[in-house]
Amino acid sequence: MTHGWTNLSSSVDSVFLFIMGISLVLLVGVTGTMLFFTVKYRRSKHPRAENIEGNLALEIVWTVIPTLLVLATFWVGWKGFVYMRTVPQDAMLVKVTGSMWSWHFAYENGAAGGVLKVPVNKPVKLVITSTDVLHSLSIPAFRVKEDAVPGRENYLWFQPDVPGSYDLFCTEYCGMGHSAMITKVEVMPEQDFQAWYREAGGKTAGGRSGPDGAKLFAEKGCSACHSIDGSPKAGPTLKGISGHRVTVLTNGKEREITADDAYLRKSLLDPAADIVKGFPPIMPPQKGILTDAEIAAIIEYLKTLH
Ligand code: CUA
Repeated sequence: MTHGWTNLSSSVDSVFLFIMGISLVLLVGVTGTMLFFTVKYRRSKHPRAENIEGNLALEIVWTVIPTLLVLATFWVGWKGFVYMRTVPQDAMLVKVTGSMWSWHFAYENGAAGGVLKVPVNKPVKLVITSTDVLHSLSIPAFRVKEDAVPGRENYLWFQPDVPGSYDLFCTEYCGMGHSAMITKVEVMPEQDFQAWYREAGGKTAGGRSGPDGAKLFAEKGCSACHSIDGSPKAGPTLKGISGHRVTVLTNGKEREITADDAYLRKSLLDPAADIVKGFPPIMPPQKGILTDAEIAAIIEYLKTLH
């Protein structure tokens, strides 16, 4: 591939600046000409209107120049598009799943988490999908954005060249917790990344330490709707929930139950079955999303919230 760009940002920015430049020249040119004519042909100097029949030279100029500008705009846009869609062979693959209301990143060696960790100066390919509704993954600093669509995989790639922490947003309105669907891209020096990658991958493969309930609570988006400090959010607070008496609506009928392990487990898998009184039935069921071990870890974590 031959292009002058070192990364996507410069490709996107150069197209943006090119179109911006043309627009500025046109804005100044059109406004300037208009003001000039307004003064030059004012009524006190030209009380009678004149009919001008046509001017071949002018017509050719205002046809040819805009045509060239539009073609040039297409050309730089096309080159940038091809660059964005052509993933380098050696790109590292990360699978991204959007769910109401969190992002999940999975690597080829089994490493996974809710923050996107990548090495600096290496191309990264994200394969993006969704488990429920439309989401959209956007990393403004890298000038990339792609929809997360249930049942299909989209992709994008980037190559970060400055280590640091960058915002990663959901940019498709996806319900109550949309604004909480925000996380970070950590661009790490190669050595640090490799150390994390080996450790994170090994943990999953070895299965020595089970899933971490507190981590899952944040990563899976639970914290978007449930506080752990007693304050109500979109859903009831989970402070002291385990073992507590709660009033729920089952098929529209009020009843009081104890929030034991079985209830908590059911509330994760099929939240609408026994919805806590006073809250709308909006929680996405976690059936097929959380594994049994993860559910157990979250329930254990809830027991620590007193
Ligand atoms: Cu996901 Cu907005």
